[in-house]
Amino acid sequence: MSNKPITLTQFLIEQQRAHPEFGAEQRLLIEVVARACKMIAIQVSKGALGGVLGDAGTGDNVQGEAQKKLDVISNEILLQANAWGGHLAACASEEMADPQPIPDVYPRGDLLLLFDPLDGSSNIDVNVSIGTIFSVLRAKPGVDPVSAEAFLQPGSEQLAAGYCIYGPSCTLVLTIGHGVHAFTLDREIGSFLLTRSDITIPEDTREFAVNMSNQRFWEPAMQHYVADLLAGRDGPRGKDFNMRWIASMVSDVHRILTRGGIFIYPWDRREPDKAGKLRLMYEANPMAFIVEQAGGAATTGRARMLEVTPTSLHQRVPVFLGSRNEVETATRYHLEHD
Ligand code: AHG
Repeated sequence: MSNKPITLTQFLIEQQRAHPEFGAEQRLLIEVVARACKMIAIQVSKGALGGVLGDAGTGDNVQGEAQKKLDVISNEILLQANAWGGHLAACASEEMADPQPIPDVYPRGDLLLLFDPLDGSSNIDVNVSIGTIFSVLRAKPGVDPVSAEAFLQPGSEQLAAGYCIYGPSCTLVLTIGHGVHAFTLDREIGSFLLTRSDITIPEDTREFAVNMSNQRFWEPAMQHYVADLLAGRDGPRGKDFNMRWIASMVSDVHRILTRGGIFIYPWDRREPDKAGKLRLMYEANPMAFIVEQAGGAATTGRARMLEVTPTSLHQRVPVFLGSRNEVETATRYHLEHD
């Protein structure tokens, strides 16, 4: 036997043997998503040479944000790659107002795929890491799988979730509910190879990630929590904290999976109805599933993220996730101020 890392394909086949609930259709779906991510990685890496930088000129997407060319390209790659496999009932994308059915010419399965095709897209033009986030659900019997209602399941119902980070290396991070595993793209052979298995997030941390420029819009609980972090070893927390903010959730979460930390995008009084910036179905839930599977915690500041009952496909939610003890501390600050 060689010591060469195993491929994603071999890993998934072994997971299928070990976990009977992880069926062939789920394995196929993850393989297809991984293949689409490789195609997106190629487009991202072309940069200015590929003419892929800048705005798409399509106006704002359903989130009210300007679409980048790579947002549109990545969305199209994911839709096309997943159209014909026969395992999906429908897709929902952060870039599209409504779920997209599988074309009539292809067979349909009962899996639902949600994705943010290119998260952190404001970082594209400045050559900072960005990523694709995805989540897999199963359509419930009796619910039209192409309706938004089919997708409105709490995060605890996710069968699988992952992200692919397009950084100095291209890495796919995956959970199917049995730990978190990372696969690095070997560009010479075109395969994802298992490079970290059973990733665990340290329970404690001295590092937080938040956009401090929004501080004046936060609610009092959040103000108090961050003030105590900034007070360092002389304050109630009794230790100094470092801060990092990449403004690309995939990159910030990847750092937390590597060395711990807490990531926060809190409620913000500029847009009270939106309850923050990040999307429950495309960002918060898949990342919460990954973080919990790595031994961390994820909350809305008040409740476990994976237990939130979604009310709309593009719903936004405050996000606190990462090292378990720090997320519990931040959540306690909020509950005690209510
Ligand atoms: P977008 O894909 O529209 O650039 O949004 C990125 C998300 C997330 O990845 C990141 O953590 C956050 O927005 C950054 O928001 P700010 O620009 O408000 O800091």
